[in-house]
Amino acid sequence: MNARQDVAAATAPSALSQDLTPTALRQSLGCFPSGVTVVTARAADGRPVGLTVNSFASLSLEPPLLLWSLANRSPNRQAFRQATHFAIHVLAAHQGETALQFANSRLPDKFQGIALQPPLWAEAPPLLADSHALFLCESRDAIESGDHTLFIGRIQQHRRDQGAPLLFYRGQFGEVKT
Ligand SMILES: Cc1cc2nc3c(=O)[nH]c(=O)nc-3n(C[C@H](O)[C@H](O)[C@H](O)COP(=O)(O)O)c2cc1C
Repeated sequence: MNARQDVAAATAPSALSQDLTPTALRQSLGCFPSGVTVVTARAADGRPVGLTVNSFASLSLEPPLLLWSLANRSPNRQAFRQATHFAIHVLAAHQGETALQFANSRLPDKFQGIALQPPLWAEAPPLLADSHALFLCESRDAIESGDHTLFIGRIQQHRRDQGAPLLFYRGQFGEVKT
């Protein structure tokens, strides 16, 4: 095989598959590279809740809407359904550990050791002091579909920095190559 044939063999698509098991689906869906976010809110009892999310997407500019989805098995489903607001933190390239921490459902306190901004008001979502970008949203809709609930929020405030984002591709964290 010459070099061009090597490249062609390595990039040839696999045959179309009807394997719709979560494992097989994750492998194909994981070919779509994404950023990584941490979504936070405050439960009705004041407890901070948060998790790592890559289902985030912008939805509309006028009005300013965004969306993300939460697995229905999440113990924090009710908290997110009841919260009037949530915050989306787009993680920076150096925040891989933060992504792992908020993805670990076994941790008794996912916020341990995480620096927070002073709260904007008493029941406001906890805001991470460090992130690449931040969207504070009023919760507008929660639509159950399949095994997830789609949350739609109206952006109220946002900020960004000049750094680089954390990426997620094929189950691995990475960085933008410039
Ligand atoms: C890169 C990455 C992206 C993720 N995206 C989502 C997501 O979009 N929705 C979701 O419900 N869980 C997602 N998860 C899994 C949750 O972060 C993880 O299950 C978390 O512990 C759930 O928190 P909870 O048990 O407090 O609900 C993702 C995990 C990783 C590592």
